Amino acid sequence: MADPTVEPELLAAARAVQANAHVPYSEFHVGAAIRTRSGAVFSGCNVENAAYPQGTCAEAGAIAAMCAAGEYDIDVLVTVCDGDLLSTPCGGCRQKIREFAHPGTMIHAAGPDGVRTSYTMDELLPDSFGPENLAR
Ligand code: THU
Repeated sequence: MADPTVEPELLAAARAVQANAHVPYSEFHVGAAIRTRSGAVFSGCNVENAAYPQGTCAEAGAIAAMCAAGEYDIDVLVTVCDGDLLSTPCGGCRQKIREFAHPGTMIHAAGPDGVRTSYTMDELLPDSFGPENLAR
């Protein structure tokens, strides 16, 4: 298993934004926080919609905030979910994270009790397709 150490500030940012999730349908609050290569922190929560497929994941919100600020390199991403089970980024979010990841990028999945499992990008999405695959 990858290093489970996550800086308290990043976990706190994910927890803080988790509280703002708009989840009237699933009632499943998710928060995500990113530390970029520059050291900045960006966060996002899941935002559901009455037209269910239009809802967005917490990771997507954090990535959108990062890009809006002109940053594109994820060093660390942490998600926080409730419940007894381990909840990790969904398949679509793994690919979204991958777009901005590098070999050392760490992804931590936390519950109410703290970080439960930690992964490198390659552990979470092995043999993945990324921007370099499109290089000509
Ligand atoms: N959700 C996320 O925000 N991130 C994930 O990686 C998995 C699922 C959200 C989407 C939806 O609002 C709720 O959790 C239940 O699926």
